Amino acid sequence: MNKAPRGTADILPLEQAYWRFIKEKAESLCQLYGYERIETPIFEEASLFIRSIGEGTDIVEKEMYVFKDRGGKLMALKPEGTAPVCRAYLEHGLFNLPKPIRLFYFSPIFRYERPQAGRYRQHYQFGFEALGDADPYLDAEVIELAWQFFLSLGLKGLRLELNSIGCKMCRPVYREKLKEYYSGYILKICPDCQRRFIQNPLRLLDCKKPSCIEIGENAPHSLDYLCPDCKRHFQNLIHYLEILGLPYNLNHRLVRGLDYYTRTVFEVQPPEGGAQSTLGGGGRYDDLIEELGGNPTPAVGFAAGIERIILNLKKNNIPVPPSPKPNFFISSIGDKAREEAIKLASLFRKEGLGVILAPAGKSLKAQLRQANSRGIPYTIILGEDEIKRNVIRLRNMKSGEEKEIPRHELLSYLKDLTR
Ligand code: HAM
Repeated sequence: MNKAPRGTADILPLEQAYWRFIKEKAESLCQLYGYERIETPIFEEASLFIRSIGEGTDIVEKEMYVFKDRGGKLMALKPEGTAPVCRAYLEHGLFNLPKPIRLFYFSPIFRYERPQAGRYRQHYQFGFEALGDADPYLDAEVIELAWQFFLSLGLKGLRLELNSIGCKMCRPVYREKLKEYYSGYILKICPDCQRRFIQNPLRLLDCKKPSCIEIGENAPHSLDYLCPDCKRHFQNLIHYLEILGLPYNLNHRLVRGLDYYTRTVFEVQPPEGGAQSTLGGGGRYDDLIEELGGNPTPAVGFAAGIERIILNLKKNNIPVPPSPKPNFFISSIGDKAREEAIKLASLFRKEGLGVILAPAGKSLKAQLRQANSRGIPYTIILGEDEIKRNVIRLRNMKSGEEKEIPRHELLSYLKDLTR
């Protein structure tokens, strides 16, 4: 028997209440902030991600699902959502619309990682991007939207980690300072970090191994090497965050795992922290759209992992509204009554009343047991006698109370009940 591929999961009906809750909160907040929905394909040309995420990153080097299609083109399953949004922005001339362009998405994301709690090979992201404006207010807006999103779900005690990693003018200076510092520890850092030292020194700060974390604590801070423009941008952002009352922590080791970031980077962490716990992350990527062939276009965005949010909701016993269910169950006794029940169920649905028809050939007791176990509040009972007298019996499943209702009054009676 086949099983779901390692690191993937079926999202069964019982889980759907969480997904619905999160999506509804996300959509209504996006509407409040003026973000509009965009969907991009599940796969893209692999070069889109190699150019944007960066060749030296874990995602491109080890985690991308890459395949040649039958035409011989190298494609990749989407390992993140930002580059496809930028591609769509360029392809469809969205830059002709008033800027910034505010977009949001829900998307499956594929990364070939070692699966564990909170880390999967297919996960889902809710993300949003604001394209075409360098104003630090926009960074604050994106951070506020991310923060409000988590608060609206009922998550508490979260931390907002913030840093600025500068731009292509000032980052090379910082990178050299960092290399200078780490050259004193080259034999002490892990083999992965020895590789990062050569390929992508900023990522040295992101290593999760305890001994590397300790070394990273005293590393130079990117904030101390920002050029005047990046410094001003960061100070303005802090000013806006303070105006908005958003509680940030400066974290000089926060660099993010994708290479396209410039200036602002941020992450939202649950109270316990830990490697697989980050609920969401984002930042500015002012050079990305130009690198993909467009005009220079500053941009900023964020994405959150839905599975990790659900893990946190469950861990904190945060209740979510149950998925809506039909209010009525129709049970019948005898062939003639069953035919009537089938007709009645069809009529109810056309009238907007949710109905589940009892399975055939079961005793009334078994039918009522099923209505109960499905949590349906009312059962309509139809037998030969009810049909002869042109009535139905309505049973309140909670109280057990039964009532006879004439057929001609039935629809309006039931509609009143569910109003
Ligand atoms: P990211 O930090 O790579 O950023 O992913 C965003 C979030 O997706 C993470 O914080 C985490 O909650 C979730 N996530 C990532 N990998 C996994 C996994 N293997 N299993 C479960 N959840 C996972 C981005 O992807 C950027 N595109 C975010 C962004 C948007 N930056 C600017 N705009």
